Parts: sequence; structure tokens; C-alpha cells
Amino acid sequence: MSVEDEVGNQALWLDSPRAGLRVGPAPRPRPGRGEVLVQVRALALNPVDAVPGLARRFVYPWLRYPAVLGTDVAGEVVEVGAGVGDLRAGDRVVGLATGQERFRNSTAHGAFQHLVVLAAAVTTPIPAAMAFTDAVVLPLGAATAAAGLFQDDQLGLALPTASAAGRGEDVLVWGASTSVGTNATQLARAAGYRVLATASPRNHDLVRSLGAAEVFDYRDAAVVHEVVRALRGRHLAGTLAIGAGSLPRTIAVARRAGGTGRIASAHPTPITAARRVAVRPLGVHVSAVWGGAPAQNEVGPAVFARFLPAALAEGRYRPAPPADVVGHGLAAVPAALRRLRAGVSARKLVVTL
Ligand SMILES: NC(=O)c1ccc[n+]([C@@H]2O[C@H](COP(=O)([O-])OP(=O)(O)OC[C@H]3O[C@@H](n4cnc5c(N)ncnc54)[C@H](OP(=O)(O)O)[C@@H]3O)[C@@H](O)[C@H]2O)c1
Repeated sequence: MSVEDEVGNQALWLDSPRAGLRVGPAPRPRPGRGEVLVQVRALALNPVDAVPGLARRFVYPWLRYPAVLGTDVAGEVVEVGAGVGDLRAGDRVVGLATGQERFRNSTAHGAFQHLVVLAAAVTTPIPAAMAFTDAVVLPLGAATAAAGLFQDDQLGLALPTASAAGRGEDVLVWGASTSVGTNATQLARAAGYRVLATASPRNHDLVRSLGAAEVFDYRDAAVVHEVVRALRGRHLAGTLAIGAGSLPRTIAVARRAGGTGRIASAHPTPITAARRVAVRPLGVHVSAVWGGAPAQNEVGPAVFARFLPAALAEGRYRPAPPADVVGHGLAAVPAALRRLRAGVSARKLVVTL
């Protein structure tokens, strides 16, 4: 008997913006065209999952309630919808759950449940030797990094390949020890760019091990000057700005270092739009990244379906940041979210199911 027959489906429900999360029965979803149904074995938590109560209305104003939150899952395919060529029942996969996306707005596609529907375009088979708990750190971090780096309306960089030649161009990843940043560092390297990065000193070795050529401390008062110096004689193809305070500093770098002047911000704040207009005459172009966008554009399948499967199998790409398994079962998620709110450093909080 399979696990879903034993337990039926259970979800972690959010009944209203002000309500607490509760575990309860959920329908067994069916995969539509281009989708797979996945038995979830591990899920990972992201800052957006930990947004408190009413603030969620600012991030997902369209979200219908009751809702099933969450974006990152790993597990086994149990059913394959029409039009899916590359995935089969029994495949071990990791994928981006899109239940909260405006175009979806569906509880069947939310990560925090035992049986979830994933779009094949943002689902990646994982090697037999890779644990679900290791793989599950990938989805939103990789999707957000890929959106920022590769979408034409963001940095518009070349896509990653199995053997990209060096391009002689640089990418700055500000906040490279984050989930988004560890993925951006690897994706930009795999696309042939030299990566300059910032992180706390305790994470410099990790960021270098993922492919960054030079890493700077974002708290250092001279960090802008140091980064500009490292860019002397180079061409800055684009910057991914991650973390509080990243935008003013990356704008300062872009103004002084030249290059394309393009900055994709994964940390948009209410004043980002005003800043974007103010810096345009200075030759700096700021765009706001949306991590769910690759589920609806060419970047999603290019990275999740075409690049990552072989890169993971051949060890050219590492799930990062490393997983910290903090509980088991949907009921463990609320405590894990409280822990995430307290802050993490180069770690992804993971719950097994
Ligand atoms: N726009 C979108 O669609 C989207 C999607 C995903 C995430 N995000 C946003 O992107 C940011 C990162 O998310 P995540 O999930 O990748 O984060 P995360 O992994 O939870 O971030 C933890 C890391 O943040 C770093 N950090 C903290 N303050 C920083 C700062 N001021 N500058 C640079 N790094 C800083 C810490 O680095 P050290 O320990 O090295 O100091 C730590 O390793 C968050 O603001 C999140 O809301 C946006």
C-alpha cells in the first residue's frame, strides 16, 4: 500500500490571513496538462512563508483563503498528467510549488501538504544518491536567481550550459550566502561569468566553493570601494541585489564601475520604485525580481528541466545552502517558521514528511 493510500492527503491550512496554521484533510489533487502529482517527502521554508498575518496581503494580494502555503518540495512522482514527456511515476524529483502565484491561486499546488501538483516545467529529477532533504533546498532559491539573472526583463544574461566558456564578463551577487545567492553564484558561473560576491566572513569559504572568484563582507564600510576596485578593467554584466540595504550599495557600485548598469533586486521595498526612477538618468536600470515568474516563462524549463538534471547528476551543481532538518510532519512547520523568523545564516530549514 502506498503512503497516500494510508494517510489520504493532509495539508497545512491557512484559513484566513489572521488565522493560525492547522493540519487537516485535503482533497487528493489531480495533475492537469503539463503537471505531475508528487508525494512529498521533504519541504523547505522560505522567508515569504514566514511573513506574518496581514503582511501576506502585500506579497500575495490576490491569494484566496483557505490557502495552502509553501513553494519548495521534494518527493516521488505518483501520477503524470497529459503532455509530460520527461517524468514518470516513481521518479524522485524536486520542484517549485506555485499555489500562491497569481495565475494559479490554487490549494492543490501549495507545497505544505502530502500530495502536491507541480508544473513539469519547474520540476527536476534528482540523482538516486541525493537525499530529498538535500535536494529540497533548491526550488525558490534557484527560481528567483534564474529569474533575476536570465529573464530579458531582468539582467538578460546568457543561460547556463554544461560547459560554458568564460565570457570575460562579471556578475555581482550581493548577498551570496542566501538561498537566492548561493544559487545565483552557481548559475552565473555555469553561464560562463566571473562572479564577485558579498557575504559575512564566516560564509566566504562556502561562497567561494560555489564558484565565486572574490567575496567581500557586505558590512565592511569600504565594501563598495573594494568591489569597484575588483571590477577595474572588467565589464560588469549585471548585479543581483539580495538582502536589506543591498540596493543603495549596488547602485553605488554600478554608477562607479560602469558596465550594463543593470541591477535585479530580489529585495524590493516600497521605495524601490522611486529609486528606480531616480537612478535611470544615471544609466542604472533597476528591476524587481519575482521568483515565481519562471513557472510561466522560458527560463523555468531552461533551468529546471534542461540544465539542472545533468548538472546535479554530474555534481556540477550543489543544492545550497545546506539543509538543516528541523522537524517531521506538517505540524512541525509552524515552529520551523518561527525559527526562520529568528534568522538563519547560509542554512535552509527543512521539514520531512
Ligand atoms: N522577489 C522574490 O521573488 C524573492 C524570492 C525569494 C527570496 N526573496 C528575498 O530575497 C532575500 C533572500 O531570501 P533567501 O530565501 O535567499 O534568504 P535566506 O537564505 O533565508 O537568507 C539568509 C542569509 O541572508 C543573509 N543576509 C542577511 N542580511 C543581509 C544583508 N543585509 N545583505 C546581504 N545578505 C544578508 C545572511 O548572510 P550572512 O549570514 O552571510 O550574513 C544569511 O546567510 C529575502 O529578502 C527574501 O525575501 C525574494
